[in-house]
Amino acid sequence: MTRILAIESSCDETAVAITEDGKLLSNVVATQISVHEKYGGVMPEVASRLHCENIPFCLKEALEKANLSFSDIDAFAVTRGPGLIGCLHVGLQAAKTLALLYDKPLIPVHHLAGHIYANEYVGELKFPLLCVVVSGGNTELVLMERPMQFRIVGETKDDAVGECYDKVARVLGLPYPGGLPIDKAAKEGKHAYDLPTPASPDGEYDFSYSGLKTAVINLVNSLKMKGEPVSVPDMARSFQDVAIGMVVEKASKAAFAFGVKQVVLAGGVSANSYLRERMKEIFEGSPIELLIPPLWCTTDNAAMIAKVAEHLYEKKVFAPLTLGVDPNWKIDHYLEF
Ligand code: KG4
Repeated sequence: MTRILAIESSCDETAVAITEDGKLLSNVVATQISVHEKYGGVMPEVASRLHCENIPFCLKEALEKANLSFSDIDAFAVTRGPGLIGCLHVGLQAAKTLALLYDKPLIPVHHLAGHIYANEYVGELKFPLLCVVVSGGNTELVLMERPMQFRIVGETKDDAVGECYDKVARVLGLPYPGGLPIDKAAKEGKHAYDLPTPASPDGEYDFSYSGLKTAVINLVNSLKMKGEPVSVPDMARSFQDVAIGMVVEKASKAAFAFGVKQVVLAGGVSANSYLRERMKEIFEGSPIELLIPPLWCTTDNAAMIAKVAEHLYEKKVFAPLTLGVDPNWKIDHYLEF
């Protein structure tokens, strides 16, 4: 029997989860959204401090829910990157201390691998597969020929799609994080505003979102200056059509070109209803299976970190206690630490 305790603290969620032979025994998430909401984005220093305050309580609650104590744990896993440096440090120091105290292995987990492997809570991963990683900090198409082997075949050259949602929401006066409010508003709107489809960067499967973000901000500001009304639902719909349209177009093109067996959605933006709908339409009836994570797994949590850790535990991929965080850790350099 293998019991893993996993810690996630890369951004604004402090999370601890415990698994026993793959079964989730507890999954505790302390979100800081209500604190960062008033700044319209995550304040890194505030986030790190809140992780320090929350982590002991999250650890205690996770153990209580699992009805276990630290000495029952076989390995301590932690998100080592990518993410906010101060935030990552809090989780890593907690995991290292526990590994040292209980003389158990320390397992370093890549945050995006966590989002991808979260899908194992709903289905089996079938290789080769294409992961569509769309979040507040990342927009990547990742090809996996084998388990735990990642190749980035396309990525954003500037902003991430989630970041673009958050900035557009802000200019429209919608709350932070902006993804869900835009998704909801778009359902009530029509494609009334002509927004530029972002110019394709050099790579066939690469993305660019900064032009789209600027176009929305400029359009809203110029309408306001002219005293013309801005329809929030229509703007949300027009923006979402273009932003998600680009993900769908590049992801489907790559999936067919690489001849994958499965397409897997991952990250916060994978909660988007329009993205889910469009991807289902495209892959229904095709030889490619589509795997969509449950909504609870699209936001940051430690259950997904534990899933990756199970695979690494089997392979005995452990880190020394000298391990440092890597805020820019690239997923295709996974085993370099
Ligand atoms: O993966 P995540 O929780 O955080 C990291 O970036 O690691 O993703 C958060 C992002 C935010 O930008 C948020 O606005 C976006 O996911 N998001 C959505 C939706 N729900 C959350 N974007 C579009 N549609 C949604 N329904």
